[in-house]
Amino acid sequence: MREPIQWIKNEMPREVAAGMLALFSDDQRAKIRNFHRSFPQYNETPLVHLKNLSEQLGIGGLYVKDESFRFGLNSFKVLGGTYAVGRYVAQRLGKDISQISYDTFLAPETKEAVGEITFYTVTDGNHGRGVAWAANKLGQKSVIRMPHGSSEARVANIRAEGADVQVMDLNYDDAIRVVARMAESDPNGVLVQDTDWVGYEQIPSWIVQGYSTVAAEAHEQLQSLGIWKPTHIFLQAGVGAFAGSIQGYFASIYGEDCPTTTVVEASAANCHYRSALAGRRIPVGGDLSTIMAGLACGEACGISWDILKNNAKFFTSVSDWVTAYGMRMLGAPCKGDTRIISGESGAVTAGLVAALMTDDANKDFREALNLNESSIVLVVSTEGDTDPVRYKDIVWNGYCPS
Ligand SMILES: Cc1ncc(COP(=O)(O)O)c(C=O)c1O
Repeated sequence: MREPIQWIKNEMPREVAAGMLALFSDDQRAKIRNFHRSFPQYNETPLVHLKNLSEQLGIGGLYVKDESFRFGLNSFKVLGGTYAVGRYVAQRLGKDISQISYDTFLAPETKEAVGEITFYTVTDGNHGRGVAWAANKLGQKSVIRMPHGSSEARVANIRAEGADVQVMDLNYDDAIRVVARMAESDPNGVLVQDTDWVGYEQIPSWIVQGYSTVAAEAHEQLQSLGIWKPTHIFLQAGVGAFAGSIQGYFASIYGEDCPTTTVVEASAANCHYRSALAGRRIPVGGDLSTIMAGLACGEACGISWDILKNNAKFFTSVSDWVTAYGMRMLGAPCKGDTRIISGESGAVTAGLVAALMTDDANKDFREALNLNESSIVLVVSTEGDTDPVRYKDIVWNGYCPS
């Protein structure tokens, strides 16, 4: 039996006029983009129009931003880690981020000026890989810890970047508390975490900013196709830094006229959905067990929650079958459409759009969204097959049918 899709319209009162949207001012957006452009690994990732699938689903257009091509690292996450490390290095050098580039990372003078640093973080795989990659380029160390159940393939990818990596017998949020203490007790330690708490806000805010390069590219790519803006955006959330970033980018450009955004979570770790129901930010505990490893976070990041609470239109909570469906659909597309290899945390939004359009059990949600043949829908496949064994198990062997 398939677990039904749960959803709620955002009826929380808007508390602040701009709040964290200041992170995405014109000036900030330009600096973030220019920083990433300085990397030789930088290329825009493809925005794929699944024309035939759109017709089959009865929507005007489904556009999928394929982040499996990002920096050769198979996920968008490196954008946040590199930007945060870049901002940190800029701060240590007494410079503005606009004076920092990839070359600054490689320059021996940078290391001489900042001395030894060990970057610490907790990750399901993708964020830690990005932080380890950035540390490696800087000639610095990284200590990466992963929650219980993390896959061998994801551990190996991080180790390949020269990191000290271990899987802990803790869930994501509890592992963060332990690693924050490790970083604090190391005189050279710097925690690069994608969630915040009182007194630890600056680095997470840089990570949230860094992800906006995805939005900037997608926005430009749509405009180059003659589409002024999408009507709908579906954003998957773990701690919510990614969703908050994309939402923040579009809200700062379009204001009240922003596309309709929906935050999509794994039902086992649906802290945003539950917070929206409760009208205040609340955590979800337990083992957060879902195949969507990147979304297995029980505590929402406060910075992005501020943006989502004030701007997102809907919050939804879905179980694993939705992403398995999305992975299969993107991996075996309609004839004439481009194939997208999308991992467990990447495909959930495409799977959701298809489930909304094809199953009348979701009619109320579909109508509330006003999702129809004139809708232009943007989703981000945030990762490729970051766990290739699990990917094949789902797409080839039919694991997770319901
Ligand atoms: C592939 C993928 N997609 C989405 C997310 C969710 O990002 P966030 O935790 O910022 O909400 C993650 C987080 O690790 C991820 O790895």
